[in-house]
Amino acid sequence: ELTNSPRHSHSLAGKAVAWDSSAMNAHLWSHLYIVKSVQGSKGVKNFKQVENYVQKLVQVQPLKKNVSSPSSQFTIDISQLSNCFVGFSGSIEKLDGKDGFQAIADSGWLNIKVPNDMFVKRVLEEIRAATSHYGSADSKCSRVENICVEYSSPNIAKPFHVGHLRSTIIGNVLSNLLEAVGHSVKRVNFLGDWGTQFGLLSLGLTRYADLEKLKSDHLLELYNLYVKINQDVKSECGEASEMTSETYQEGLGLFARLEKGDEGMKILWKMVNDLSLAELNKMYKRLGVHFTDVISESSYQQKTADVIYRLQNSGLMQYDDHGVGYVQMPEEKTIGRASIVKSDGSSLYLTRDIASVLDRQDIFNLDRMHYVVDQGQRGHFIKLLHILNKLSVPWAAQSINNVHIKFGRVKGMSTRQGKVVFLRDVLDEAKSRVIESMKAKSTTRVNENIEEIGDIIGVTCIVLQDLKSHRSSDYTFSWDRALNMKADSGIFVQYCHARLCSMLSGCGTSLTDDVDVNLIHNDKSLYNLVHHMARYPDVFSQALIKLEPHHIVQYLFKLCHLINVAYSTCPVKGQPVDIAQARLLVFDCSRQVVANCMKILGLQPLEKI
Ligand code: ARG
Repeated sequence: ELTNSPRHSHSLAGKAVAWDSSAMNAHLWSHLYIVKSVQGSKGVKNFKQVENYVQKLVQVQPLKKNVSSPSSQFTIDISQLSNCFVGFSGSIEKLDGKDGFQAIADSGWLNIKVPNDMFVKRVLEEIRAATSHYGSADSKCSRVENICVEYSSPNIAKPFHVGHLRSTIIGNVLSNLLEAVGHSVKRVNFLGDWGTQFGLLSLGLTRYADLEKLKSDHLLELYNLYVKINQDVKSECGEASEMTSETYQEGLGLFARLEKGDEGMKILWKMVNDLSLAELNKMYKRLGVHFTDVISESSYQQKTADVIYRLQNSGLMQYDDHGVGYVQMPEEKTIGRASIVKSDGSSLYLTRDIASVLDRQDIFNLDRMHYVVDQGQRGHFIKLLHILNKLSVPWAAQSINNVHIKFGRVKGMSTRQGKVVFLRDVLDEAKSRVIESMKAKSTTRVNENIEEIGDIIGVTCIVLQDLKSHRSSDYTFSWDRALNMKADSGIFVQYCHARLCSMLSGCGTSLTDDVDVNLIHNDKSLYNLVHHMARYPDVFSQALIKLEPHHIVQYLFKLCHLINVAYSTCPVKGQPVDIAQARLLVFDCSRQVVANCMKILGLQPLEKI
């Protein structure tokens, strides 16, 4: 009934397409199109006619799935559509008639109503059919891109700090998102195993190392040496530049020997590397994080000569009076110039970064590059991108926000012992706190593998606390929040999943195909749950487009709350078969959606706690 009011057909000219809120599951969205440039768009009488126009269309454009709060009714402001009509691809009759779809034009709006029973049926069918792909299937990429996500990237001779933890967690999720829609993802850990800090640590080792301590806890001992030698520097130079410290100069000297290939230094360097890597790998395993390529900064030290050569050749390189080579930056006032080579000819962090990414570009032929690094390195990445752009690397023309995936700082992370030094202490403490709360809970059933379960839940708590807000916001770490049993935490989500699993296996009935959906949508808590599940594909797509994991985390928390409400008001056990079946179907689907969210977030959903 588009033209009952003449206003509608006349008001379709020349305006941008805009959408009001909306509401359907992703499957239905894929049937809805905005039809652009319909010929003779005046005088459309009903949907049959719209369909005829659809067939004559010049151009059909799928709608953007940009849905913030769906409901089973959605509204399109047709006065905003330029030469457009709304149609359903090839199935208007079906939508308007038999399945109970209603389309009503009302003062400039076209309201399309999806009946509740059909809405519920379609959502649940879709989840059952897509299983672990529910959510990601609708965002499948139309062209496979080669994407490199670089994350974690700690420094070998310095402690792994909480910024590296954030990078590890966020980079892992972004890689999962991109892989889930079919892209080819290189997960790179760019190890900072080169630089002056290494000279200082070597000096610390020769001055103070205690072999026994090094053997029993090398992570702690290396850290102590790092602290001691830096204290020496500080006490010598005071407020003046560290260059004035003899210790610092000695450290630089050792590093220069390493750069020149001194055998003794190489052995020391390798020892520190091996010890640190062994420790890092233990942590990655606990966090459930993996990489396809571990690339070390040191391996690009030799290749920096090519970079310098290319920059000279393209006329980008300039030298100052001290012989330092640099590239002029447009925003030099705020971020300084981009130094490429020191006066003694040795390379810098930026130079090695350029060498490494040019190499990756050659090997992987990248369409996109995402560096997941804290926002403190913004200036570094602006310089890097500027230079790569000048060297005609294709993706370097993109905005810096697509390349440098920045994140905020974490404040107040500390253990019972005091300030946090090692990530392993945070994970250990999360585990022991989780085990304490589990033991205090009467319903806890695991005992033989409580350590393993405690560790998985502990990791879930740390990860979800980290991912729950916008990645660029700073956040204050809180154990109480991270381990809150009642809401919005890792332990809350794991319990919700495990409870569903035990209910599904212990309710005395199993799911058949014959479910009366009317028994679902007439129950408010079940309907709300289904309704929320229908949103997942859109939430997934938001997270993917914005590279923002918090969309999924917030969605997951709400999902678990709705499950808990439905769980307490809609028991399955002891109910008449038809009711039990209907509820079981909803719970089965919701367990699937919880698991899908968790897996994308890099978490292991537990079946039994
Ligand atoms: N290792 C560096 C640090 O800890 C981070 C490396 C980030 N990645 C890069 N390609 N620059 O500060």
